[in-house]
Amino acid sequence: MTRTAGYVSDVSYPTFFYKEMQPLWLATVAGFLGIVAPDVARDFTLCELGCGAGVNLLIAAACHPTSRFVGVDFNKEHLDTARQAAAAAGIGNVEFVHADFASFGAVCGEQFDFVTCHGVWSWIAAEDQQHLIDIAARCLIPGGLFYLHYMCHPGSTQLAPLQHLLNLCAHHMPGPSTRQAQTGMRLLAQVAAGGAFTEEPAMHRHLANMARRQPADLAHEFLTDHWEPAHSANVHQQVAGSGLTYIGSADVFNNLDPSLSVPGGLQGLIRRTAVPALAETLKDMARNAHQRTDLFQKGARSVSGSIVAASLSSTRFTALPAAPRRGPVTFTTPIGSVEGPASSYTPVLERLATGPASGAELARLPALDGDIGELLQVVQLLMMQQLAHPMLANAPVTDERSLRLGSWLAEHDVPLQLVPACATAIA
Ligand SMILES: C[S@@+](CC[C@H](N)C(=O)[O-])C[C@H]1O[C@@H](n2cnc3c(N)ncnc32)[C@H](O)[C@@H]1O
Repeated sequence: MTRTAGYVSDVSYPTFFYKEMQPLWLATVAGFLGIVAPDVARDFTLCELGCGAGVNLLIAAACHPTSRFVGVDFNKEHLDTARQAAAAAGIGNVEFVHADFASFGAVCGEQFDFVTCHGVWSWIAAEDQQHLIDIAARCLIPGGLFYLHYMCHPGSTQLAPLQHLLNLCAHHMPGPSTRQAQTGMRLLAQVAAGGAFTEEPAMHRHLANMARRQPADLAHEFLTDHWEPAHSANVHQQVAGSGLTYIGSADVFNNLDPSLSVPGGLQGLIRRTAVPALAETLKDMARNAHQRTDLFQKGARSVSGSIVAASLSSTRFTALPAAPRRGPVTFTTPIGSVEGPASSYTPVLERLATGPASGAELARLPALDGDIGELLQVVQLLMMQQLAHPMLANAPVTDERSLRLGSWLAEHDVPLQLVPACATAIA
């Protein structure tokens, strides 16, 4: 059998790391959104639903050794890999639960500060999506954060006929999902070369991107029976029905002021749009968004500017190895290149080149002159491009477990380097 509940289960999903799922990142970004988030300087709990081989959890568990992490997945091979990595690294504060979402939801009595879910929602049946929401709504502490990644319109809309053909093909073909994906890709290449998609040149770009992906990745991405991009307004409405409030994006680019994050011709229209669901939909269109990483909080929390200022001021930032020493900086964004001017970026980069600095310290630089709004845009763009990162308040020294996890990742061809002081990893 190649599928379980319509989801590919005969081949292992490759390992991917997402900085936006890490608890320090989530708590910091929530603070930037004016929300009081769970405090990651203290012990906390985090559950990842559909954790795959668990690399995001393992990195978090290594960086927060006294906090507790739980991963849930119905693919035993994925969990075997995750457990082997935890054992090899001596990481004991992560538990991997072999269960589908329905059964986990029925028995889970634990409360979590964070529930995360990446690469799952758009690939599972509607009833399983509802199980995800129910688990988050029931198992989060009041004020806890739910991170939900999904494919969205309009950027992913065009993939639908390509996915349909790959899925259909796979249902009429023997063999493992990887071979089915490769055969389907050859058919699609033939279709494109034969003259299809002449009026839709973007389809050729999608096919070229797909051709660069590993067969196991393609199988998980496209062979599932429940593949479907969503409209963000619909997801927000569905999640809100369970008492979770949409607070913003874990992708800091999406939280930037429209003057930086949507094309000029649409900034006025979006600013004038008072209905949040409509404004968010316009932003998805303006950015041709193909996926979203949304943040929800349990309970309706009021947003406060003083929380933004306090959170930014108290956060310590460090430069990451790719950081230049001076501006201007060119940022690669969903709306094309955005230029960060030397006048703002050079002082910040020069200061960070000498060592970590708090937001309060950076705000006092003459170029920023106490302008918290400007500093927020600067640090978020640096964070987006992995040039700077928030640091843990009680930053640990690199310990034995992080080193051993690093070795395990290297032995398994996962090109990631842990940065324990920032509770993250970099490529
Ligand atoms: C594409 S992988 C994502 C893995 C990881 N979250 C990441 O982003 O790298 C999706 C995972 O969800 C799991 N999954 C799908 N449906 C599930 C269900 N109903 N119950 C439990 N796990 C499920 C799959 O086995 C797979 O490991």
